[in-house]
Amino acid sequence: MADNYLEKRYEETLGASRPKVKSIGHTVDDLLLRNRSHRAFLSSYKVSRAELERIVSVCSRIPSGCNRQALRFHLLTYNTGGRELLPLIKLGAALPQLHLPLPNTEPEAFIICCATVDEDRLIDIDLGIALQSMMLKAVEMGLNALTIGAFNAEKVQKTFSIALRPLMILAIGKGIDRIALTSISPEQNHSYYRENGIHYVPKIVAEKLILNHDA
Ligand SMILES: Cc1cc2nc3c(=O)[nH]c(=O)nc-3n(C[C@H](O)[C@H](O)[C@H](O)COP(=O)(O)O)c2cc1C
Repeated sequence: MADNYLEKRYEETLGASRPKVKSIGHTVDDLLLRNRSHRAFLSSYKVSRAELERIVSVCSRIPSGCNRQALRFHLLTYNTGGRELLPLIKLGAALPQLHLPLPNTEPEAFIICCATVDEDRLIDIDLGIALQSMMLKAVEMGLNALTIGAFNAEKVQKTFSIALRPLMILAIGKGIDRIALTSISPEQNHSYYRENGIHYVPKIVAEKLILNHDA
């Protein structure tokens, strides 16, 4: 017997217990692990506008300071100017010698995040929630994303005739980087690096993130 409202309604409407769907690879931990910053993408896979719209749709279900919901999104696909954005963004600043992205692996679809109000603390928090939610959605859809903060906002706004000031950009595509996480303590080097074709991302172990420990 269903013990929550939605399941009860389902039973009342359809007269049957909702079939139990086994979660396969979509636990939060699994999505978070797969949600790595890719800087190389499969050039033969062209992300569609419908896919970008599906990713943005998560923003109708996320928290928002004062519930202002002031974020707006300008979508670019390969066919609608995605490649024109490439000279205006910077990837992999910690690996300048690689000059990322490498030819034929460039991202070609983007979500340019803007706001209808001036940027403030709450907007920046909203932005972080929106970006991460969209990245997780992309991963769930079998795609990958990269948050891009290093870009020329003025030129981006002008090039694409966007009414609002761009705050952050998400690149979307089928990521092809081979990425692994490594565990570090807070005093160790945080910089990502590459070795034998693998992109390593150091992450601080969880126990070192907690300020107060049991006596
Ligand atoms: C606020 C923010 C801004 C970022 N800006 C850029 C950027 O401009 N270019 C870039 O290549 N990566 C950028 N990144 C990606 C980070 O470098 C990446 O998250 C970090 O190296 C950790 O890798 P991970 O996302 O796979 O955990 C940004 C990430 C965040 C959260």
